[in-house]
Amino acid sequence: MNLPDLKKARIRTDKEVEYIYLNDHYQKLFSGQKYFLKTYGCQMNVHDSEEIAARLESLGFNKTEVLEEADIVILNTCAIRENAHDKLYGFLGRCKHLKKEKKDVIIGICGCMAQEENVVEEIMNKHQYIDIVFGTHNIYKLQDLIINKKEKQNIEVYSCEGDVYENVPYKRESQVKAWVNIQYGCDKFCTYCIVPYTRGKQRSRKSQEIIKEVEELVKNGYKEVTLLGQNVNAYGKELKDEINFAKLLEEVAKTGIERIRFVTSHPWDFTDEMIEIIAKYDNIMPYIHLPLQSGSSKILKLMGRRYTKEEYLTLYHKIKETIPNVAITTDIIVGFPNETDENFKETLDVVNACQFDSAFTFIYSPREGTPAAKIEDKIPMEVKEERLHKLNELINSYSLKANQKYLGKTVKVLIEGVSEKDNTKVFGYTETMKLVNVDNACDKIGEIIDVKITDAKSFSLDGKI
Ligand code: 5AD
Ligand code: SF4
Repeated sequence: MNLPDLKKARIRTDKEVEYIYLNDHYQKLFSGQKYFLKTYGCQMNVHDSEEIAARLESLGFNKTEVLEEADIVILNTCAIRENAHDKLYGFLGRCKHLKKEKKDVIIGICGCMAQEENVVEEIMNKHQYIDIVFGTHNIYKLQDLIINKKEKQNIEVYSCEGDVYENVPYKRESQVKAWVNIQYGCDKFCTYCIVPYTRGKQRSRKSQEIIKEVEELVKNGYKEVTLLGQNVNAYGKELKDEINFAKLLEEVAKTGIERIRFVTSHPWDFTDEMIEIIAKYDNIMPYIHLPLQSGSSKILKLMGRRYTKEEYLTLYHKIKETIPNVAITTDIIVGFPNETDENFKETLDVVNACQFDSAFTFIYSPREGTPAAKIEDKIPMEVKEERLHKLNELINSYSLKANQKYLGKTVKVLIEGVSEKDNTKVFGYTETMKLVNVDNACDKIGEIIDVKITDAKSFSLDGKI
């Protein structure tokens, strides 16, 4: 294909680099064609997919939910645990079939798995029908990759760090709440975790750019922002002359946005200043996701988490005492290599002491290239599964208990949309991030309303206006 001149739009990064952006000519190139975008994994991937969608639509593609209708399929992958790989491979079978039926369809793979060298090699060898592969550091080149797709595969994955891009286009999934990336990558290198390898070292955005983005969202009627990063409360640490996370929270609070959330916080970076700022501003939500990972100081040390069980508990109680009605949720891994029954019991002890509002629980999954994957593990899978089951039962009992405290109370709920299961109901979240299904409030989408809680289950609440 003969490429006409490309207009260069300046996208500012830390290093003030410039990159080629597509001009209007390309906007009609794929008009009338459809894209199918499937997202695996965490909120960071969900938000990346909002960028991918915007870039696909800039070329003229329209969204479809039906795989068979698609002219381009993009799979935004996750690498955090082995089962994420399995899910993808299952879906690839359907893509292979589609390619047989429809030769011109473009199949693309991106996201964290695409950053894993061995996986990309496997994709190139085993799945010849895949047309494009790109990584987490070069989503901005998606349009180029599609346009330049040759007869054979077009693979471009950067093994080096990505920059920090500004003016990124997003097709946001919600008109009520928005993700705002404040930082890319992670410097913590917990020994079990693949993220620092797939997403690179920590790079924070400039606070002025973040504030500008939030102000724009407020102007466009958004009610809630969630500041997003692998380690949000380490925000700015690698930058000279940048404010810290507590000050950033304060600046965001001053924009007047009605609700502010942030994920994910690392206990090691949680300061008293942050706790005070969260307590001080009504528009910073009293909800903190604070991954524990293990209740055993020995295992925490092996995980490279930089805190002990006692330090976690001290922080936990300080947060509970300072921020009224705060809800705290967590992540826990069971079956880290050679975790003993005694170590696991300590995790249960911490869960009993904290009574978390809810938790994501996982069986440890060795990730190739991480330090923990080299440890010879003598614990059988059945034991790990049993531990997970036991832990989940305990966690669920506390979730139910936490939810039951809401019975009969009136709470503020930001209504997000119509419930998928029952279209006479709408759903939304309390300030403390409890999911509430509300009767007869279809005209309240996008509003924060008072809801009286009528029923409490482990994973949701029911209520009425
Ligand atoms: N195995 C199991 N769980 C993991 N997590 C991260 N890496 C692994 C792994 N190798 C969990 C942690 C983290 C959450 C996002 O995923 O609990 O907080
Ligand atoms: Fe992974 Fe640890 Fe970074 Fe979280 S803090 S992304 S668990 S390395």
